[in-house]
Amino acid sequence: MASRYHEVYAGWQSDPEGFWAKAAEDIDWFRRWDKVFDAPAGVYGHWFAGAECNTCFNAVDRHVEGGRADQIALVHDSAVTGTMTRFTYAELKAEIVALAAVLAKLGVEKGDRVIIYMPMVAEAAIAMLACARLGAVHSVVFGGFAATELATRIDDARPKLIISASCGLEPGRVVAYKPLLDGAIDLAGHKPASCLILQRPQLACDTVPGRDIDYADAVSAAKASGTDVPCVPVAATDPLYVLYTSGTTGQPKGVVRDNGGHMVALKWSMQNEFGVAPGEVFWAASDVGWVVGHSYIVYAPLLHGCTTILFEGKPVGTPDAGTFWRVIADHGVVALFTAPTAFRAIKKEDPKGEFVSKHDLSRFRTLFLAGERADPETIRWAEQKLGVPVIDHWWQTETGHPISQNPVGLGMLPVKYGSPCVPMPGFDVRVLDDAGHEVARNTLGNVVLKLPLPPGCLPTLWNADKRFHDAYLAEFPGYYKTADAGYVDDDGYLFIMARTDDIINVAGHRLSTGAMEEVLAEHPDVAECAVIGIADAMKGQIPCGFVVLNSGVTRDIAEIEREVVALVRERIGPVAAFKLVVTIKRLPKTRSGKILRGTMQKIADKEAWAMPATIDDPAILDEITQALATRGIGV
Ligand code: COA
Ligand code: AMP
Repeated sequence: MASRYHEVYAGWQSDPEGFWAKAAEDIDWFRRWDKVFDAPAGVYGHWFAGAECNTCFNAVDRHVEGGRADQIALVHDSAVTGTMTRFTYAELKAEIVALAAVLAKLGVEKGDRVIIYMPMVAEAAIAMLACARLGAVHSVVFGGFAATELATRIDDARPKLIISASCGLEPGRVVAYKPLLDGAIDLAGHKPASCLILQRPQLACDTVPGRDIDYADAVSAAKASGTDVPCVPVAATDPLYVLYTSGTTGQPKGVVRDNGGHMVALKWSMQNEFGVAPGEVFWAASDVGWVVGHSYIVYAPLLHGCTTILFEGKPVGTPDAGTFWRVIADHGVVALFTAPTAFRAIKKEDPKGEFVSKHDLSRFRTLFLAGERADPETIRWAEQKLGVPVIDHWWQTETGHPISQNPVGLGMLPVKYGSPCVPMPGFDVRVLDDAGHEVARNTLGNVVLKLPLPPGCLPTLWNADKRFHDAYLAEFPGYYKTADAGYVDDDGYLFIMARTDDIINVAGHRLSTGAMEEVLAEHPDVAECAVIGIADAMKGQIPCGFVVLNSGVTRDIAEIEREVVALVRERIGPVAAFKLVVTIKRLPKTRSGKILRGTMQKIADKEAWAMPATIDDPAILDEITQALATRGIGV
């Protein structure tokens, strides 16, 4: 089939407001908009100003009313516990209404924030939707973060209530959530009025009298009372959620998502970008703590009337490298969305793809990869073993849905390995030099998006309009800075090559090296430090810390390095995957004192590098090379 992409993209370019107004017809509104786009509102404008809606109504209630009551909406498939729970749309609605009744009884109202700190259990999705039902603003915090990170988010979001669980389950390890939750509340200045705790059978926890409430007891009581909780109308421009993501400092950025534009963009993306029809089974193998989990485990598939899979497990080791194929076969998944690192992990365990043939993948049509650069070797392996198109697509927490991809639903364009294909309607992608001038095709530069951003993208940062402006809009006036470097080729295909800031991508997880440096600097024996991301065959990148010790420190260096590793795990969490520290005598710097992190990274990754003209003392780079070589890095 010839692709309709060029025609559809040109249609959006000629009339952006008309394009989104038409897409908005697929959403049920309580009140229609006064303006499709209100340019003077907010930091760069607001979509669907004047409209009223409810995201939970569109994701759940309207399907129950519209003939999907008995269709499976959500499957919780836990490869860790060997259990599977299915909820029809009607059953999902009943769970959401009961939880919303509990939240309302605890005083949660429209606009209040609720933090959700949960593992991959169905109740995490139910909690998000119950908040949406009440017009409360949820903020999901990923389970692999430590108490300090949770505390930072509590202080920024100031939640009325926190929903959590007794434990999460990592392969071979039960993660006790409650001590982390209690620790975070102790650390935080803001104290939530109550905590709703889901007790899991693998590890029960103690509760704090007067503050903690048992999730199951409260929900059963609400069900028994038969309380109905209608969907609360909210403004399309009201926040649905805040999701914190790594910024260039230890202070995470609270990405705000509104209700109306978010629904319109996600609903459009399911059919046109992902090529999935209502009623089909869609699986995003991510975590609800990340944007992929928000958009493509919970909201988009449900808004579209699909069945969605919430999978608790890993691509390997739960129990083996065939788990993904088992899930696809068991549930009739038509499209899987995951990060390339998951496929690298599978490929390492099962290079010949022998597990693939053990399962019936006849209904499986497309594999989508995002979250980090998809290396051509992994794409080719997946294409060959699965026999389906493999679609690399590029986006960010901030945009909430793909900026560029091969639009399967509009008809596929030719695949170019290493490229997440072409911009989606709504995104006018440009490449600028550091002075803000557009560069020629095939020239590397700063990838930016011409304002306004389309519906579904962040309108601002939580309580931080100025930070939003300064971080994203100030450097290139009229454009949103993605902080990715890349180029556009002669056919208009994008190539995303690297970040231009201190963010690194570890196993598809977005982490700030600046935040890690802040932790390293806290160690009493550390005088100076630098953290860089170095190439890793499986995780894409891993962090590598360099420390210079205070003069006069005579303690065992290996012991200090172990302490530094433990400190990052304690402060940021296991997700940082920070395991490598190299002690050096001095850091390489420019004459003005800037640490040459880029050159250090090139040495570690065995990339060609030139001696920086402004380097203070070239001999230091030899010292770095030698120090890395003792760890087998860069040789
Ligand atoms: N709760 C608690 N700890 C967690 C966690 C969670 N939700 N998620 C990860 N961790 C821990 C891991 O157990 C690991 O701990 P360890 O140091 O004790 O081994 C650590 O954080 C690092 O995790 P990760 O980098 O994910 O490594 P891994 O070896 O556990 O798994 C992969 C590697 C590739 C299998 C895994 O990262 C994966 O499946 N990635 C898929 C990509 C993905 O989900 N991306 C999200 C955006 S699409
Ligand atoms: P996150 O906000 O966690 O989704 O991370 C977003 C960042 O991940 C982007 O800014 C890119 O640096 C990187 N990224 C995501 N998808 C891709 C992709 N398909 N190709 C290259 N980089 C990607």
